[in-house]
Amino acid sequence: MKAINPFQTVEYISPEYFCDRDAELQQIINSIDNQRNLTIVSQRRLGKTALIKHSFHHLKKRKDLSLHYFDIYATQNLAEFINVLSSSLIGYFESKPEKVLGQLIKLLGQFRPKLSFDELSGTPSVELSLQTVAETEQSLAAIFDYLSKQKQRVVIAIDEFQQITNYPEKNVEALLRTHIQMNDNVTMIYSGSNRRMLVSLFNDYARPFYQSTGFLFLDKIDPEKYKAFISKHFKKGGRKISDEALNFILDWAQVHTYYVQEICNRLYANGLSNIDVTEAKGVVLSILDERTPLYQVYKNILTVSQYALLMAIAMETSIEKPNASAFLTKYKLGAASSVIRSLESLETKDLILFENKQYALTDVFLMRWLQRQWKV
Ligand SMILES: Nc1ncnc2c1ncn2[C@@H]1O[C@H](COP(=O)(O)OP(=O)(O)O)[C@@H](O)[C@H]1O
Ligand SMILES: [Mg+2]
Repeated sequence: MKAINPFQTVEYISPEYFCDRDAELQQIINSIDNQRNLTIVSQRRLGKTALIKHSFHHLKKRKDLSLHYFDIYATQNLAEFINVLSSSLIGYFESKPEKVLGQLIKLLGQFRPKLSFDELSGTPSVELSLQTVAETEQSLAAIFDYLSKQKQRVVIAIDEFQQITNYPEKNVEALLRTHIQMNDNVTMIYSGSNRRMLVSLFNDYARPFYQSTGFLFLDKIDPEKYKAFISKHFKKGGRKISDEALNFILDWAQVHTYYVQEICNRLYANGLSNIDVTEAKGVVLSILDERTPLYQVYKNILTVSQYALLMAIAMETSIEKPNASAFLTKYKLGAASSVIRSLESLETKDLILFENKQYALTDVFLMRWLQRQWKV
């Protein structure tokens, strides 16, 4: 087998390359075993998707469960949602006796399904022709009805769930909730990034969704566990990484999973047998250099005041009150009212987020890049 870099930055591979999250794994398994729906929330790139894959990896031998994962990030409306859902079900049942796949296709037959296979991977996908609201709702009902009749318990993980708040249909949440509540054979795992998702779930005055799911707020990985994980893998590869280098990496990347993984992946790829802070610094600089063309674009696409505010927040790492006069004066940001407007627009563009009562940049590398651009 080809040697793989132990620090993955794209896909989940196996528990071997996955650091900690033991308590979270237990929480997910416990939810599934006790038929409670669960919503996993964290800012981007902290490890929600990998955690779902990790828990499915642990559960895949369980004969009493059928596990389905799908990502709705790219869907624009309920019909597309249903297509992705049907495709993931068909993909799963495809490996089962043909009878099962046949049943599902028959069931969706009235919605004129077009079945196709990905040229490269052979993964099947289905597209239903859903022309009216009634048809859309009927197809969803048909799918859940089908799932309720399965012998195995069905677990459905919907990743990037906040996307449903962008659908033109306003009743998607209620619709899903109804089917899910009526269907005691299906356990749902929703996953999504912070604010917008929570707002969409909590804004409902009756909070029915809130009552129908438990929550897992995913935090950063414990730094000590992360350090042990990193040094173990370097050691396995016959290298040594110093404590200072580990501390530097975790601090510089703010223990944010994806950024730590990316740095370690590059450091590992260097093939050096002894890694100290100098090597770690070299790697982070090369990452920032590589991204410079991407990051320079912000100066053109943002207004002068938005860019100035982004830079100011980057310089502070995070800020509780961006309209406080000390902050405005320090970075010459002008009137508080215009800063509030810029803040909203940076948030809409997903460049900053508000969490733990602080505003901060969503992209740690961009934050570090801006800090290096700062000239008084
Ligand atoms: N516990 C972990 N140990 C090692 N790598 C992880 C861990 N959690 C996530 N990753 C890696 O970090 C990156 C970001 O994780 P991802 O699950 O895509 O985040 P999210 O879904 O929250 O945006 C991925 O490359 C993933 O493989
Ligand atoms: Mg994800």
